[in-house]
Amino acid sequence: MKDRVEVSAPGKLMLLGEHAVVYNRPCLVTAVGQRMHASVELIADGALTIDAPDVGVSGYTKLFTSDLGKGDIPRGARFIEMAVRNFNERHSLPAGVKVTTKSEFSSQFGFGSSSASTVCTVYALSEILGLELDKKELFDIAYKTVLDVQGAGSGFDVAAGIYGGTLYFLTGGQEIEPINIPSIPLVVGYSGIKADTVEIVNQVKEKAAKKPKLVENIYDNIADLVTKAKVSLQNRDWDELGVWMNHNQEHLDSLGVSSDKLDHMIEAARKAGAYGAKLSGAGVGDCMIALASEEKKVEIERAITKAEGQVINVETNVEGVRVD
Ligand code: PMV
Repeated sequence: MKDRVEVSAPGKLMLLGEHAVVYNRPCLVTAVGQRMHASVELIADGALTIDAPDVGVSGYTKLFTSDLGKGDIPRGARFIEMAVRNFNERHSLPAGVKVTTKSEFSSQFGFGSSSASTVCTVYALSEILGLELDKKELFDIAYKTVLDVQGAGSGFDVAAGIYGGTLYFLTGGQEIEPINIPSIPLVVGYSGIKADTVEIVNQVKEKAAKKPKLVENIYDNIADLVTKAKVSLQNRDWDELGVWMNHNQEHLDSLGVSSDKLDHMIEAARKAGAYGAKLSGAGVGDCMIALASEEKKVEIERAITKAEGQVINVETNVEGVRVD
């Protein structure tokens, strides 16, 4: 057993398949170079202490009683507290725990800061206890945590944090298949608007309740193009992958989750020569992604900036959670 470990987990970008992946369809996700760092230590006082200054939490403490994970928990502490509770329920912790996080990216981008801090917490605790849990066991505890806190979600972000790389992922981790590629030539543009994933997932759910056939059909079409895009990705056929991205964007538009700002940025990237472009994640805000050749990259970045997007340099396909 160790007293303390430092770990880090990557953020993520959804490549294709968002929303449909909540309903038993596959998606493609890549882990990004911006990482969440966590220092986790055992402390003698039998309490949980959280310092997460990036999300406004400092010196938050709670005793390890039956109340852990319940009651009025500050937003920035919810995922970590629930992760500690869920871990403790399975692998009884011998003492209190202090978790301190530091993010390399803004929680506004939609790179998955909540899931990355959940992954860091679960992994760090397993390292401290010397448990050597396999990736799927880590995934199950972290995914349960995300569901406990936000009620909905496919778990794709948790998988990206744990496994890293680029994954073909089926709802709830039924399939998690690494795709063997070195990197993906993406340009990422932030819309400047923070998307509330749970709210947007609920809006889509309402639409599905009103028009079930239409929405199921959209999900099936998305599933179909994700399966084809997986092959394009494996073959590094960017022309073809770009086509699937554009089709995926049309389906997301039909679901009602795009926005004028995202449309504008996507259109600008395409006109500047992107193979394809689409929103990434829940939609409405957060980021768009464009697939760009080396020659067109600068032009596409300029076009996104001109469309009032903020270009974020992102390394794709990076390593999953690790001890630093
Ligand atoms: O908003 P993000 O980047 O966390 O992406 C959400 C993707 C959804 O498919 C809409 C939800 C999910 O959990 O898969």
